[in-house]
Amino acid sequence: MKVILFGGTGMVGQGVLHECISDPGVEQILLVVRGATGVTSSKVIELVHGDFFDWSGVEGRFAGFDTCLFCLGVSAVGMKEAEYRRTTYDLTVAVAEMLLHGGSLKTFEYISGAGTNANGRQMWARVKGSLENTLMAMPFQQVFCVRPGYIQPLHGVRSKIGWYNGIYAALSWAYPLMMRLMPKFVTSTEELGRAMIALARNGYPKKIIEVQDIHAAANLG
Ligand SMILES: NC(=O)c1ccc[n+]([C@@H]2O[C@H](COP(=O)([O-])OP(=O)(O)OC[C@H]3O[C@@H](n4cnc5c(N)ncnc54)[C@H](OP(=O)(O)O)[C@@H]3O)[C@@H](O)[C@H]2O)c1
Repeated sequence: MKVILFGGTGMVGQGVLHECISDPGVEQILLVVRGATGVTSSKVIELVHGDFFDWSGVEGRFAGFDTCLFCLGVSAVGMKEAEYRRTTYDLTVAVAEMLLHGGSLKTFEYISGAGTNANGRQMWARVKGSLENTLMAMPFQQVFCVRPGYIQPLHGVRSKIGWYNGIYAALSWAYPLMMRLMPKFVTSTEELGRAMIALARNGYPKKIIEVQDIHAAANLG
């Protein structure tokens, strides 16, 4: 499997990158980032790119890759709908359309979120919901919209929001208990990464992947 990873510097993307590097079935990872990361792995090729809305001149770099794990995303907190929509809907669709035209991509996976709903009351849920609908209508062989809830970072993965790391550290002892008591809401960066790889590799009977599907897909390996 040859994977294109977006958002690899974020909390979710770092976790997915860790699992892609560890999985012997993932041959190569194209890490698409805004700034150099310093990640060293023989599997990783880095593409540093400034404008995620304009891919002219670099489309050829995506040739031969079969899977896109799209973990790029921003928090809607404090954002107006138009601004959130641009970085969430417009940016993701621009990437998906560019990859579709490239022709080799079979699987596109988008990290959405628990509670996403195109007709929901919350702005973020509506924007992510309309994005999910657009992506699922695109003619990739497989599209999965993955909806995690609480994610426990493991293996040194850190949130970009400094004070979140204190909360995650404080909750790390409670994570196994939370998994048992709230299995419909809780996952980890490790499980999420394993599930995304397994979805691309094995397929899945649903396109919308809720937390229980994340558990199931990760267990199938
Ligand atoms: N964390 C959670 O608990 C959680 C739970 C459910 C769903 N999610 C969803 O997962 C997604 C990722 O969340 P996260 O926690 O990993 O976020 P994060 O830690 O803030 O990381 C965001 C990632 O997106 C990239 N990015 C943001 N704006 C960009 C832009 N305009 N152009 C290019 N790259 C951009 C960042 O790159 P730079 O390093 O260049 O800034 C970074 O790689 C979001 O859609 C979020 O809603 C997260």
